[in-house]
Amino acid sequence: MSTVFFRKIGIIGAGQMGSGIAQVCASFGHAISLVDIKRSQLDNAKDSIRQSASKLLEKGKISSSAKDNIASLIVYTEDYASLVESDLVIEAVDEKEDLKKRVLRQVEDVVSKDCVIASNTSSISITKLSSVLKLPQRGIGVHFMNPVPLMKLVEVIPGLQTHKETNDRIMGFVKAIAREPVSSKDYPGFIVNRILMPMINEAFFALMEGLASPEEIDTGMKLGTNQPMGPLQLADLIGLDTCLAIMTVLHNGFGDSKYRPCPLLIQYVHAGRLGRKTKSGVYSYE
Ligand code: CAA
Repeated sequence: MSTVFFRKIGIIGAGQMGSGIAQVCASFGHAISLVDIKRSQLDNAKDSIRQSASKLLEKGKISSSAKDNIASLIVYTEDYASLVESDLVIEAVDEKEDLKKRVLRQVEDVVSKDCVIASNTSSISITKLSSVLKLPQRGIGVHFMNPVPLMKLVEVIPGLQTHKETNDRIMGFVKAIAREPVSSKDYPGFIVNRILMPMINEAFFALMEGLASPEEIDTGMKLGTNQPMGPLQLADLIGLDTCLAIMTVLHNGFGDSKYRPCPLLIQYVHAGRLGRKTKSGVYSYE
């Protein structure tokens, strides 16, 4: 149990990241309010969490008591008032700065002054996001990897105004839910996406130029550099819209043309080919 650091946790956004974070935190005994404005999203999250927990139990990756916790400790709700007793709230809505700022303000209106308010942003400045808080010293980045239940890493990103105590509590919490934290300064893309996204973007350039087929590009990188999946397969898993949003943050944040998003990636997003979640991205999942 990681109750030393936080007892009750609120998570905003029931997409694949928010639901994964809810699942992992609940499995370690935290009471969770998973909040989304769409009931259908909450229903989908409930189904996918149930399926994921069953699969992990079958494979012996979690205990039956962890699975019971997942089933009993998550409340799926559209009501921000359910956050009132939270010690930690993690925002995991779409990668859109204005939306995230709006959500953070709404959260701060509900929670107590001791509650830590974290963002799971994959690239947006934590200093900028926390600037909308009345108490910016409680704002911090806590960036989980996808798929959350299987991935060990969490990036922890203190902003310029983040209090040391906020950072220490989050570092302790991440370790207590059996994840490995790495600390990054607050620059665009932090560590992982700063390095991963240019590789994925380059794979799209290679595809656009007809260098090779998607399968060959992925096989090349998978078997040639011992990665578990190729960059185009991974882009479909992450979501092409998220990849584009992160490349745009890198491009704007550094002002360097080496981060310009590939036109083919942009085109796929315009066409609604967002990856696995729309059943069509670089590959088809029908
Ligand atoms: N819960 C439970 N089980 C899950 C799951 C989940 N959420 N997601 C996938 N699985 C299951 C699969 O269904 C599969 O089950 P079966 O064996 O019964 O079919 C099982 O996990 C293993 O999957 P695979 O056999 O396909 O393969 P794998 O052993 O390669 O593991 C993987 C899958 C962990 C996703 C692995 O391919 C991998 O590590 N891929 C790279 C992921 C990665 O790089 N993530 C980081 C992305 S970057 C990011 O997240 C940051 C950002 O901001 C964008």
